[in-house]
Amino acid sequence: RERFEASLAELDDAVPQPNRTQNRGASEAPAARTGFDNTADTDPALPQNRAWGLEILRRVPSSLLGDDTIAESIVHDETELDAVIQTAAEAGSAWGRLSGAERAEVLHRAGDELALSRADLMEVMASETGKTLDQSDPEVSEAIDFAHFYAERARELDSVDGATFVPSTLTVVAPPWNFPVAIPAGSTLAALAAGSAVVIKPARQARRSGAVMVEALWRAGVPREALRLVQLADQSLGRTLIAHDSVDRVILTGGYETAELFRSFRPDVPLLAETSGKNAIIVTPSADLDLAVKDVVASAFGHAGQKCSAASLVILVGSVATSRRFRTQLVDAVSSLTVGYPADPSTQMGPIIEKAKGKLLSGLTTLGDGEKWLVEPKKLDDSGALWSPGVRAGVRRGSEYHLTEYFGPILGIMTAATLEEAIEIQNEIDYGLTAGLHSLNSAELGVWLSRIQAGNLYVNRGTTGAIVRRQPFGGWKKSVVGPGSKAGGPNYLLGLGSWQTAVSHA
Ligand code: SER
Repeated sequence: RERFEASLAELDDAVPQPNRTQNRGASEAPAARTGFDNTADTDPALPQNRAWGLEILRRVPSSLLGDDTIAESIVHDETELDAVIQTAAEAGSAWGRLSGAERAEVLHRAGDELALSRADLMEVMASETGKTLDQSDPEVSEAIDFAHFYAERARELDSVDGATFVPSTLTVVAPPWNFPVAIPAGSTLAALAAGSAVVIKPARQARRSGAVMVEALWRAGVPREALRLVQLADQSLGRTLIAHDSVDRVILTGGYETAELFRSFRPDVPLLAETSGKNAIIVTPSADLDLAVKDVVASAFGHAGQKCSAASLVILVGSVATSRRFRTQLVDAVSSLTVGYPADPSTQMGPIIEKAKGKLLSGLTTLGDGEKWLVEPKKLDDSGALWSPGVRAGVRRGSEYHLTEYFGPILGIMTAATLEEAIEIQNEIDYGLTAGLHSLNSAELGVWLSRIQAGNLYVNRGTTGAIVRRQPFGGWKKSVVGPGSKAGGPNYLLGLGSWQTAVSHA
């Protein structure tokens, strides 16, 4: 309905508005100062929005920008790092003394500023990480949602019956490159909403995206001292940062091993880490197979499969496994994807973040026992970053492909005689982030819901793109290190500080 009303508003108002988002219109109206509504994505069916998108792409280079440097944010040595941390910790105390309602005001403005920066954020994401517009647009909406949603949760911290929320002083935020706006924004805004100062170190491959996001928050009134953007000149400074006495919380999104390393640096400090995933979609004979093919392709190959939530396996059950129909449609759909850099508007799947190496290269080039390529991945240019998508069949239970996260454009097909067997296949994986079921049978749905071991479950839908409030995001098992609270959920802020209760016998 929101989109439909936005379309009507656009039709009523054919003259482009002179705002920075070029008449994206109703979806960018200033958010309410209280309450929360999810932000609408840009509707590409509207001609002016397509023109707006093409204008963004004209500013995007024809290959990936490569590691970029933000001169103002470089920290060269331990002395400089100590100075940054000390000023942030002092600012943190002042920020934390504001009431939740006062912080909420700033956070709502942050959401508005992010909305005004939508085009800039999409441009920089395409340039640095190869995100196509259909992927980066919802990411900006999610960042805006985090701002408005956590603003409202900050307000609630003022009025918990019988207990006082005591903010942390300084939170280190270490986000990944694959969601270079939504994840840094979500972690930073949550910590700020909970009254902590933040030192954020964007991923090496996405520093500029992090910087454009941080600038929007500064413009909204987040004090510069309370939100510091850093780039570490030397990798060893990362350990110094985490280990610093004034840091009392860490929010990380990255691989499971990185999270374990962080925890070993600082076992005394709470760590919230969103880690790896190896996710499967199960397709049963009752499914709408056309829809299943579409959702599997989007989940496996959106942003070239570089999402912890991506589907890396599809498990075909019973007659879906034994007949040719699903495989044939899947192969047709995957083979027809247009692969390129996002500057080319016809690109449907962009590059991987940099030259394929290690585990991903082996996943793109080698097969396990009994496996065969239904669609073989091909390296498409000399950079080593542009690969066509791959589909392998015959993946065996317990094999390397079954259990390993590859983080790239590869999908494996497994088969199962029954839904129960398919669920066992999925639950054997050490990770438990997202899981999908395509089935139109409610009994099957009940069985799957009661047995599947994953944090985010999707029925007759793709496995990526969690939505703030509607589906908070976070996994189980080795997909999480720390308390496992859900980002974009009602309780996330409650775990970002300490609680005090007092009683008096006077
Ligand atoms: N929140 C993202 C998704 O749901 C992953 O980080 O796809």
